[in-house]
Amino acid sequence: MQINDKSNSTIYIPNKDRYDYMSYNRSGKSGVLLPAIALGLWHNFGFVDALKNGRSILRTAFDLGITHFDLANNYGPPYGSAETNFGTIFKQDFKAYRDELFIATKAGYDMWPGPYGNWGSRKYLTASLNQSLKRMELDYVDVFYHHRPDPNTPLEETMGALTDLVRQGKALYVGISNYNAEDTLKASKILKASNTPFIINQVNYSMLDRWIEAKLLKALSTTDLGCIVFSPLAQGMLTNRYLDGIPKDSRAAKTATYLEVDKVKANHDKILKLNKIAKKRDQTLSQMAIAWILRLPEITSVLVGASSSNQLIENVKALDNLHFEQKELNAIEKILKENS
Ligand SMILES: NC(=O)c1ccc[n+]([C@@H]2O[C@H](COP(=O)([O-])OP(=O)(O)OC[C@H]3O[C@@H](n4cnc5c(N)ncnc54)[C@H](OP(=O)(O)O)[C@@H]3O)[C@@H](O)[C@H]2O)c1
Repeated sequence: MQINDKSNSTIYIPNKDRYDYMSYNRSGKSGVLLPAIALGLWHNFGFVDALKNGRSILRTAFDLGITHFDLANNYGPPYGSAETNFGTIFKQDFKAYRDELFIATKAGYDMWPGPYGNWGSRKYLTASLNQSLKRMELDYVDVFYHHRPDPNTPLEETMGALTDLVRQGKALYVGISNYNAEDTLKASKILKASNTPFIINQVNYSMLDRWIEAKLLKALSTTDLGCIVFSPLAQGMLTNRYLDGIPKDSRAAKTATYLEVDKVKANHDKILKLNKIAKKRDQTLSQMAIAWILRLPEITSVLVGASSSNQLIENVKALDNLHFEQKELNAIEKILKENS
């Protein structure tokens, strides 16, 4: 697989072999296949970031067979700007390939002031998806997510809004994000009753955060849902980024609200030990971290972020070795159980 940097060419001609390398997994028991590795636009695509770099990352992704791009109303900063930038790049490079793409957006976190710009009301979800479509200049998204559970809105109202947005042709499928096992089961019951195409739960999972193993994975199997995991590299901690300290251009240095320097320092020993195992496997740490997630049959897709095309190219090469010997898994387990 040879992917060249195409960020400077005006006209984008996608790699003609783009579907040869990536593998695609079915989302639960739906008809949807998602790439084993997908790309998220949470960081690096806002107005504060260089559009040219974002364009290069998206072109690289598509060239690698990544058909799934994940957005949300509030990605930026400022809020909304990742969708606006995505819309600009989409128009320039991907319009002809709309039917080859699976585009997601979400609503559920703080987005605009006042009582209707947050959480899970019908009012908020409907207005937010209308805004997202305008910003991205799309007729519809492939999947629309409720971004997080809302303890104060009846689940019937939130799920009903998702159903109606599908009926209006604004989303093809719906998903939930950050829902635990119990709430996933409840959401599934409501959406099944209305025949809504509910395909996936998007949750945090990595070697450093394993909460989904306790109950959620079973709930997803029971409800025939797919699972796409975010922050699989623990926001960069499970890469070579922090092996020798905190680089100035890293997420921990730039946006400490999301990835705290103290957290990186607390995990440093583990990261070094995991890196040794990755080296023995002839992989980088990020590649091993992604392969380790894909060991679970319940996982549909690993949703990575990247601040450069080269990071993405490195990460996708995880697919070259997804196999783990039991003794490797045991050694990883031992490191993960150590107190940080
Ligand atoms: N549903 C939700 O609530 C939710 C929450 C969070 C994220 N998400 C989604 O999940 C996506 C991924 O989340 P994430 O960005 O936290 O994922 P991640 O893959 O764990 O972290 C991505 C960051 O790690 C660093 N990195 C990645 N590959 C690298 C490599 N090969 N070498 C060195 N550093 C590397 C980069 O940070 P540097 O800037 O340091 O280079 C990159 O921006 C988001 O874009 C979003 O779509 C969803």
